Amino acid sequence: MEITVVGTGYVGMVAACCLARSGHTVTAVDKDQEKLEQLRQNVLPIYEKDLDYIFWEALRDNRLSFTHDLASSLEQAEIVIVAVGTPAKTDGRIDLSQVYEVASDLAILAKKPLKVVMKSTVPPGFGQSVCERVFSRSKFKIDYVSNPEFLREGKAVQDWYFPDRIVIGCNDQEVSKTVANLYHDLAAPIVFMDVTSAEMVKYASNAFLATKISFINEIANLCERLGTDIDIIAETIGMDKRIGPQFLKAGLGYGGSCFPKDTRGLDYISTSYGHCFSLLKAVIEVNSRQRVLATRKILQALPADNKKVAVLGLAFKPGTNDVREAPALDIIDQLLGEGVEVTACDPIAIENAQKKLPSAVVFNQNPYATCRDCSAVLLATEWEEYVALDWNQIKGVMKPPFFLMDGRNALDPIAIKQAGFRYLGIGRSRNQLVPEY
Ligand code: UGA
Repeated sequence: MEITVVGTGYVGMVAACCLARSGHTVTAVDKDQEKLEQLRQNVLPIYEKDLDYIFWEALRDNRLSFTHDLASSLEQAEIVIVAVGTPAKTDGRIDLSQVYEVASDLAILAKKPLKVVMKSTVPPGFGQSVCERVFSRSKFKIDYVSNPEFLREGKAVQDWYFPDRIVIGCNDQEVSKTVANLYHDLAAPIVFMDVTSAEMVKYASNAFLATKISFINEIANLCERLGTDIDIIAETIGMDKRIGPQFLKAGLGYGGSCFPKDTRGLDYISTSYGHCFSLLKAVIEVNSRQRVLATRKILQALPADNKKVAVLGLAFKPGTNDVREAPALDIIDQLLGEGVEVTACDPIAIENAQKKLPSAVVFNQNPYATCRDCSAVLLATEWEEYVALDWNQIKGVMKPPFFLMDGRNALDPIAIKQAGFRYLGIGRSRNQLVPEY
């Protein structure tokens, strides 16, 4: 099939490359000339594990091309996949300007009937409204399909090929079947439903996963008071198949471009429909408090004469250079506000973090140099290379009281204690030296 993909972010690029690999001919459209230039030079504008090989293969086989010209790409396209950004506004509302703009362009530029497949995360009801307000004005029939993505950044290729389910929201059976055919090579259950339900599935999935994280963080906070250990508790409750083991890792809370935006977005949508989603409000509050609690613990551990903290990890999770809503950035801001000197490092996210953090932060690519002369270190992102650091060597370059805040419960508390650190995890009370506050 001839497919146009609008938007070359991580969802758009993964879809474009993987669909090209499945034998489709794909044109990726983006307005950003800089990105297009990079793509034309065979350089991916995003960092996504395992994507480069699929990208180069698609280019080699002439199945993938790039343009800024949506109109020309529509001459051949039977299906248009929309994967542009839907960022959050400050009040939690979703900024839908980019998706509306693409929809209006499609309505005007369509040269034949089209099937529009929405992969951008849009609020429930959006599809119906865009059909009534925009697509109904087109000269040609435009069918609309909501096909939400459940790809994780850093694992997007793996998630594309091994999805738990594929959701197709469309009010026309024939169109649903054509779009389902895009995934003919994947062994995943396909669930068909109406457009608004599919849009809701996306928000409900992310809100539920965020709820699991805030729930386990609250249990961890309680563990700290009870002197019990979150690891064994999370592992044991996760053995119950009704609960499941995933997303029960206590830590600094969720970040990224999706959970924070989608939880606030769903809260806003609920309120606008006259429903107070109390549980979701609590999930959001617990998540931001988790960062404040971590900052407080670090501040309490710092000696008056050496308020220097090293932060290891800036990305919102390992495997990505994305720092959007990363806990590390908030904690650094809070520490700076308390007059603390901060040095920070990350294997791949320094450049992005530099754009968002004040110039007072000193960045260093080397974790050992980052910790030099600091009296506390925060492990904010559980990069494998940081978990595997020589902590004896780290302690050797630090100053007392050698405080280590393991914000992701990724380290072995006993080994860290033996290296001479005052260790504090999140809800890990049994095997750690709990500072006397
Ligand atoms: C998330 C969803 O997992 C995807 O299914 C979805 O497609 C995507 O949002 C989206 O809406 O586009 P992503 O934001 O890439 O994917 O990241 P996750 O791997 O889900 O992690 C989100 C955050 O939760 C990270 O900050 C991570 O550190 C944190 N987390 C995750 C925990 O604190 N504890 C856990 O047990 C799991």
